[in-house]
Order: sequence, then structure tokens, then C-alpha cells
Amino acid sequence: MSITPPKAGWYNEPVDKVELLWVGIALVWALIMFAMMPLWHLKGTQNMSNEAYRIHPEAFQAKVDEMVEKYKVGEEGKVQTPVVRPPAGSDVYLLARLWEWYPVLELEQGKSYRLHLSSLDWQHGFSVQPANINLQVHPGIDEVVTITPTTSGDFGIICNEYCGIGHHTMLGKIRVVAAK
Ligand code: CUA
Repeated sequence: MSITPPKAGWYNEPVDKVELLWVGIALVWALIMFAMMPLWHLKGTQNMSNEAYRIHPEAFQAKVDEMVEKYKVGEEGKVQTPVVRPPAGSDVYLLARLWEWYPVLELEQGKSYRLHLSSLDWQHGFSVQPANINLQVHPGIDEVVTITPTTSGDFGIICNEYCGIGHHTMLGKIRVVAAK
């Protein structure tokens, strides 16, 4: 038994009205969504504007270490992750690696910071909870986003890009403190 071929000329039939209508609706909707992209960005403050640069993982680690050394104010957690309080308005660095976010950043409410994100090994997902900010973090790329924390408190960082056996343990923290 075999599948019988369709009769000759099967592809040459006029397009049904209903099909044309649906193609038309889909096209109009796609154009509306296309126009919404810049509007969501400009009016809805969605999709953060960001910059990205190439950087060697070792060079990024050196910047993180320098910041930690200068501005460390404590340690916390099982592995004694340094807590760092860099000056308000400065460039701050957060690195991702198997399986941690390093260090804990302490930021001042209402001040803007240039947050640099990069990975030392694989791709990770920077997800701030419960603010629902999501960015991908890549090795070799220094991604810079300008952030202005508006609410004080502890914000959890989880990794939302599967990165191996310890993925679910890859937790970090940003602490926002009220301005003095
Ligand atoms: Cu890092 Cu998942």
C-alpha cells in the first residue's frame, strides 16, 4: 500500500476568502505589534537600553575584585560572599559563574548606577526578583545597564538560564538601602 498522489493541479486552486481574511488579520496585527515595539520601549519603559562591550573574563574578574577590595563592608551566606557598598552613582560589577552571583551589591535607593554584568564561564540568566528584570549574561561580553533602585529591601537574583547541575542553587542578592 502506498500514499496516492494528489490529483494534478491541486496547488493551483484559488485562495479561499476565509483564508485571505485570516492572512489579512494576521498581517494587520503583525504591523500593529511592530509599531508597538518602539512605543513599549519609549513610553512603557520596557526593554532596558543597554550597552555591551567585549571583555576577557579575566579582565572582568579583575574589575570585580578591585571593587570588592575597595568597598567591602561585610560578608554573608554559607560561602561568605562579600557584601560591597560602592559609592552612589558609580560603576558596579556583578559576575556570574558556576554557580553563584558575586558579590552581594548594596545600593542606595534613588541613585543611578551603571551595572556591569558578565560571566566567567557559561551563559547565565540574570533575573531580579520580584522586580521581574531579565537579562542574559554571556562570557566575554560586558553588558552595561543603568539602574535606579526605587524600592529599598533585599532583591533576590536567580539564574534563569539552565547552566548545569547547580543551576537551581545559583542565587544572589542586591540590597537596596534608604539614602542617608
Ligand atoms: Cu547559572 Cu543557571
